[in-house]
Amino acid sequence: MKLTQKITTTIAISLMTMTLPIQAGEGENIYNQYCMACHGTGIGPMARQQNIWQPRLQQKGGVDGLLKSAKTGINAMPPKGTCMNCTDEQLHSAITYMTTF
Ligand code: HEC
Repeated sequence: MKLTQKITTTIAISLMTMTLPIQAGEGENIYNQYCMACHGTGIGPMARQQNIWQPRLQQKGGVDGLLKSAKTGINAMPPKGTCMNCTDEQLHSAITYMTTF
């Protein structure tokens, strides 16, 4: 194996091992950064409280349904929860974090 190949392989492997834990906690990271200001204080429905989220999950069609209103905003909930750069996947993972009991 050439040296450059070795270096590239080493970088690729270390990138893989570095990004995995970040992805696993991405929903939590986004929640902490953008959503906690309201969903951790009672301004919005409190995160991870089943009695609060279960009815919404059932009425809106699970996390996918909640994602729709989170994207457009609903009442005092701002569009995308103020995370304007968030992708659907990132918002989905933040909502999944909030609705895990
Ligand atoms: C400025 C305060 C605020 C921030 C920041 C905020 N929310 Fe909300 N959110 C609310 C309020 C208030 C509601 C309740 C709206 C209602 O149903 O009247 C809500 C409701 C929701 C709902 C339920 C929607 C539904 O259809 O029932 C979801 C999902 C949600 N927020 C996701 C998020 C996510 C994800 C973030 C962060 C990326 C976020 N919110 C950030 C205030 C906020």
